[in-house]
Amino acid sequence: MKEQLEKIRRDAMEALEGVNDSAELEALRVRFLGKKGELTAVLKTMGSLSADERPVFGQAANNVRAAIEEKLEEAKLELKARALDAKLESEAIDITIPGTPVELGHRHPMNKALDEAKELFISMGFKILEGPEVELADYNFTKLNIGENHPSRDRSDTFYVTDDESVLLRTQTSPMQIRAMEAMKTPPIRILAPGRVYRKDEVDATHSPMFHQIEGLVIDKGVTMADLKGTLETLIKAMYGEDSVIRFRPHHFPFTEPSCEVDVQCFKCRGKGCPTCKGEGWIELLGAGMVHPKVLEGCGIDPNVYSGFAFGIGLERMAMRRYKISDMRMIFENDIRFLAQF
Ligand code: DAH
Repeated sequence: MKEQLEKIRRDAMEALEGVNDSAELEALRVRFLGKKGELTAVLKTMGSLSADERPVFGQAANNVRAAIEEKLEEAKLELKARALDAKLESEAIDITIPGTPVELGHRHPMNKALDEAKELFISMGFKILEGPEVELADYNFTKLNIGENHPSRDRSDTFYVTDDESVLLRTQTSPMQIRAMEAMKTPPIRILAPGRVYRKDEVDATHSPMFHQIEGLVIDKGVTMADLKGTLETLIKAMYGEDSVIRFRPHHFPFTEPSCEVDVQCFKCRGKGCPTCKGEGWIELLGAGMVHPKVLEGCGIDPNVYSGFAFGIGLERMAMRRYKISDMRMIFENDIRFLAQF
């Protein structure tokens, strides 16, 4: 019987050495330790032993069972490790192979300039507003104190949407001043309204029938021209550098009084005069002024209590100067070779 036990142990050890998968492992467990297994079969013959022999034999049988169980466990772990190795190998990635490049897009130079301006004005407490591009003539002209016979109302300048000339593609973002005052009613009002505008211009290096403006409006008690100058100086220094020099030149706009245009000293020739500034030494940047009392009144704001300033900037021109772009058409043509430079 002892030999029988030893044989079972040897057979089991040998068989378990070459196990290839868990099904085989289970089959071996059943073969040796199962209810109808080889070890059980030997134990069943213990009845024929003497009382002295039985415990000795029992002990030996237990040792064999323990040895097989241990070997089974070992084989199981070995299978697991092998499975993991195989999985790792099959899923291996060769990180030395060059990948497929992903071409990332980026912001358009005009949007970059706009985002810079927005961020600056938000930091000064302005709200960003957006309004309709199809606008009422009332808002685009009349409420801005632009008279019935003003040349900017002419069909040769403006895209009218209706025959009676009451609806149009806005020619400026200034109607947003009216919309802001009507919506917010009581000052303080501080808004920045960027957007598209349309004029019947031929396309050339500095003109396009569709372009963008940024409108600004501040209304409060005691707002003066000094506030306007300080605000615009902050913008221009942020855009063109701390050392940029600006000047305010008297001008006329129907909706501001007094009105001015703001120029920046030519960054190329520093005021001497060169082709970039057309020999002027200065480059026009924007229109601005103190909101006309008639405009305030028309929006239900008492000009004896409140005052305010407004300004309008051409966004393309601002971006062109900011990034030294020489032709406005490049901004709209979407040539990747141009856009990729920003
Ligand atoms: N809307 C004017 C234009 O398109 C620019 C402008 C001038 C806007 C003076 C203003 C302003 O807000 O105060 O030419």
